[in-house]
Amino acid sequence: MSLASRLGRIPPPDGDGEGNPAQVTAVPASNIPTTGIPATAIPVTSFSVSNTAGGFARRNPRRPYDPLAHVRRRAHEALLDLLGPQLYDLAGTDDDLVRPILEALPDVLAKEEALTASDRTKAYQQIVDEILGHGPIEPLLRDPDVTEIMVNSWDRIYVERFGQIHAVEAAFTDESHLRRVIDRIVSRIGRRVDEASPMVDARLPDGSRVNAVVPPIAIDGAALTVRKFSADPYTAEDLISFGTLTPQVANFLAACILGRLDIVISGGTGSGKTTLLNVLSGYLPSNERIITIEDSAELRLSQEHVLRMEYRPPNIEGAGEVTIRDLVRNALRMRPDRIVVGEVRDAAALDMLQAMNTGHDGSLTTVHANSPRDSISRLETMVMMAGMELPIRAIREQISSAVDVIVQLARLRDGHRRIVQITEVVGMEAGDVVSMQDLYTFDYGAGRDAYGRFSGQVRSTGLRPRFLDKLTEQGIPVNLEHFGVGAGS
Ligand SMILES: Nc1ncnc2c1ncn2[C@@H]1O[C@H](COP(=O)(O)OP(=O)(O)OP(=O)(O)O)[C@@H](O)[C@H]1O
Ligand SMILES: [Mg+2]
Repeated sequence: MSLASRLGRIPPPDGDGEGNPAQVTAVPASNIPTTGIPATAIPVTSFSVSNTAGGFARRNPRRPYDPLAHVRRRAHEALLDLLGPQLYDLAGTDDDLVRPILEALPDVLAKEEALTASDRTKAYQQIVDEILGHGPIEPLLRDPDVTEIMVNSWDRIYVERFGQIHAVEAAFTDESHLRRVIDRIVSRIGRRVDEASPMVDARLPDGSRVNAVVPPIAIDGAALTVRKFSADPYTAEDLISFGTLTPQVANFLAACILGRLDIVISGGTGSGKTTLLNVLSGYLPSNERIITIEDSAELRLSQEHVLRMEYRPPNIEGAGEVTIRDLVRNALRMRPDRIVVGEVRDAAALDMLQAMNTGHDGSLTTVHANSPRDSISRLETMVMMAGMELPIRAIREQISSAVDVIVQLARLRDGHRRIVQITEVVGMEAGDVVSMQDLYTFDYGAGRDAYGRFSGQVRSTGLRPRFLDKLTEQGIPVNLEHFGVGAGS
């Protein structure tokens, strides 16, 4: 009996459709005839050996029955017979390799007589996604409304759409299927993920950022997180139309950048820090030499005179790491006019502050923090990581003289990402306290609309920034009406 027909006899996995699990008659893996093809190369349907395959059982019994699973399996086998195991080595870019598959597939599917036309089209797309793309997450990657894909386990996938997180029906066939897709993503950039190095950062060809973790650190099986970026990076106009900021605030921040103020963008995970950094970097004058330093290159600057550097992780022997700190130090020897650091998260903060304090004004970076005050403490902690044993007052003085403005972002409960605070770092007060004043705050008082969305926007507090004179002296226009006491933004 062929593998396909054997699998075809196994009852569907999802029971009676009422949420009651099916009686699964699992086929012991040892009973499956070998075909000479590596076991990992065969997508196994979720209801065959899936409950034991890879050791991670299906934990989502409510997932609907997938009627095309048999069809896909049979088509895969037919393609394997036709084209051999190289089928699974494809990167999906080489036309010479891809063409035979696309040509053979319609004939293979033509043998599935029971299929309706729409199921045939669906099966075709699923098989192409499987072989040339990233399997069940490929449609999510194509969907422009999806901004994040979170594969918690092979059968439990969540996405973020319009700032809200939803579970989706898509699922991998089993643990080994998910692992195969992860391997394909990471091997493309020359990395690997296994028990010895169970977490990895990678990027998809379109620039989307990927993180994968696998057992033993991922207790319930491999997990994958994909941060998508829109094909065209967001512009200031886009962010204004999303309500993240107002035109006045965009003008104000542009003036701060032209006036060479040092700006820190602060926010929680996924609050839009990198996106705003990219937009604000767009205001950097194109006649200046800009050096960008990132953990994983995400910024897409439009200026020409840009030099990009990226963190390099240690190799498998633990050697060869080039840290953000190394890169910041090196950047200082490259005659930068401006340094843009994707995110400071370790002792690199000390070098960044020193750079800001020693003639590299107008630098930009982001910090993972929940408020401007919190971002000062984060910077303090990171400077301490440098192990210089500096007194706390000295650290705070460094911070207060380096950082001019902190822009706080948040993903609000309605899913929207907003600037919620723009704070000026004024200096030091008695008692080692960094003094700050809020220039703009989000108007939560405006309440919510019928859909639960916050109606407010970020508004001027009316306080006049101390650095205003510095900007006006340089002839940078700032609309002073903004800061008339009591004026709206
Ligand atoms: N203002 C915005 N409005 C709507 N979507 C946004 C906005 N800013 C960013 N996004 C989307 O939100 C996601 C997260 O954005 P981004 O990577 O900039 O966040 P982050 O704060 O840098 O995250 P991390 O902490 O993981 O580095 C992306 O998919 C991005 O396209
Ligand atoms: Mg980021």
